[in-house]
Amino acid sequence: MMRVPQRERARILIVEDDPVQAEALSAVLAAGEREILVAADGETGLSLARAGVELIVADYMLPGMNGVQMVRRLREEKLATPVLIVSGEATVAVAVEAMKAGVLDFVQKPFDVDFFRVRVAQALELGRTAQELEVLRRKLQRRGKPELIVGVSPAIAQVRYLIESVARTDVDVALYGETGTGKELAAREVHEYSQRAGGSFVVVDCAAIPELLLENELFGHEAGAYTGADRKAAGLLAEADGGTVFIDEIGDMPLPLQSKLLRFLQTKEFRRVGGSRQTRVDVRVVAATNRELETEVARGRFRQDLFYRINVFPIRLPPLRDRREDVPLLAHHFLRGVASGKDVGRPIEGFTPEALAALAAHDWPGNVRQLENVVRRLVVMTEGPRIGVSECHAVLGEPTATVSPAGTIEPFHQARAEVLARFERAYLGSLLQATGDNVAEAARRAGLDRKNLWLKLKRHGIARARL
Ligand SMILES: Nc1ncnc2c1ncn2[C@@H]1O[C@H](COP(=O)(O)OP(=O)(O)OP(=O)(O)O)[C@@H](O)[C@H]1O
Ligand SMILES: [Mg+2]
Repeated sequence: MMRVPQRERARILIVEDDPVQAEALSAVLAAGEREILVAADGETGLSLARAGVELIVADYMLPGMNGVQMVRRLREEKLATPVLIVSGEATVAVAVEAMKAGVLDFVQKPFDVDFFRVRVAQALELGRTAQELEVLRRKLQRRGKPELIVGVSPAIAQVRYLIESVARTDVDVALYGETGTGKELAAREVHEYSQRAGGSFVVVDCAAIPELLLENELFGHEAGAYTGADRKAAGLLAEADGGTVFIDEIGDMPLPLQSKLLRFLQTKEFRRVGGSRQTRVDVRVVAATNRELETEVARGRFRQDLFYRINVFPIRLPPLRDRREDVPLLAHHFLRGVASGKDVGRPIEGFTPEALAALAAHDWPGNVRQLENVVRRLVVMTEGPRIGVSECHAVLGEPTATVSPAGTIEPFHQARAEVLARFERAYLGSLLQATGDNVAEAARRAGLDRKNLWLKLKRHGIARARL
C-alpha cells in the first residue's frame, strides 16, 4: 500500500532578501500549524525547496537569480511546488514571463493583507490537490507491483516518505547505509515511483567492475578505441537514457573517473572512450555507498565538488539493529519467499515467539541481507512446523544454554571452550569475508598478531585464506 506523504504542518518558504519585508511576510503567513522558512536568495531557496515545502512565496527582485528564474530551475528539477511571486514593479511583460515559467500567482505590492491570505490558502489547497492526484496516478501506474520495502519502524517510515517525495522530482539521490541495509532496493523504489518507471533501471557497480574497465562500462567506447575493441559499445549511461542509473559503491570510484562523472552530471553529456563526439542522455542518477563520503573527501579519496553534486538529496538507510521492531516482519517476509520456493518440500508455518525474540535480539552486522540468509538456513534446518529458538541460536552461532533445564550440567571448562571455539570460528569467518581473505589486513583490523591469527585459522581448519 502506498502512503500519502503528508505533513500535518504546512511548510511555507519565503524567499526575500530584505529582512524587514521577510519579517512582515512571515507575520502575515504565520497561522495555526504552519512552519515558515526564510531564504535570502534563490540558490538557498532552491535547496530548502528540495527538502520539501508546500508553498513558496518569493520576491521578484532577488540577488543572483530573480524569482522567476528560480521557478524555472525548480521546474527543471521537476519540483512542482506552487509559487506566488510578490513584486513591486509588476509590468505585464514580467507577469506573463512569470506565468510561462510556471508561477501560480503574481501579487503586486503593496497588497491587501486579507486578499493575500486568501490567495495563499488557495495556493496551498491547490498544491494539496495536485499532490493527491499525483499519488493516485502513481498508484495506478504501480498497480500489480507490490511495495518492495518491508518494515513498520519509524526509521523505515521516514525512508519511505523521503523516497516517495524525491521520486516525484528529478533530483539526483544519494543513498548511505551499511552493507545489506537495502540501498539497492531503495534505488529501485525511487525509479518505480518516478515518471521514469517506464524506462530502464541500470546498475553500475563501481566495486565489482575493475578500475580500468569502469570508464568503458559507464561511457562506452568507439570501435577501435583500443586493441580488442572491434565493435562500438554504447555504455551503461546510454543504456539508461530516459530511465535511472544506479551508481553503486560510488566511494570506490577512482579519482580520474570521478572528474569525468562530475562533468557528465553538470552537462548531461559525455564522450565515449576513443570518441570525439559528445553524447547527450537524459538520466536520473541514484548513487550509493557504505562509506562516509565526508571522511573520504577529507582523506583526499573523493572529490569534494562531486560530493556536493551528488549529495543534493541524501537518504540514510538505518541498520537493522536500530530498528529491531522490523525483524519479525522481515523474517516472515523472507520465510514466505523461501517457503514458496520449490526447493523446500515442507510447509513451515512460522516462528515460535521465542525464536522471533532471539532474532530480534541479534546484532545483525550484515543487516537485512544477513537476516535473509539466516532464514534460508533456518528453513533447511527446521524439522517441525515452526522454527524454534534452538535452531536460531545454532544458525546465529550464539551460545546455547549449557546448563539445560533438564538438569544435565556440562563441566564449566568444557562448556566455556565450546562457546569460545564457536565464537572464534564465526568471528574469523566474517573477518576473512570482510577482508577478502587477506590475512595481513585481517590481522591488522582485528588487532591480532599475524602469526597468532594464522595459528587460529589453522586450528579451526579455515584454510581458504591467502597465507
Ligand atoms: N526493508 C526491506 N524489506 C525487504 N527486503 C529488504 C529490505 N531491505 C533490504 N532487503 C533485502 O535485503 C537484501 C539486501 O538489500 P540490498 O542489496 O538493497 O542492500 P545494499 O544496501 O545494497 O547492500 P550492499 O551495500 O551490501 O550492496 C536484498 O535481498 C533486499 O531485497
Ligand atoms: Mg548494494
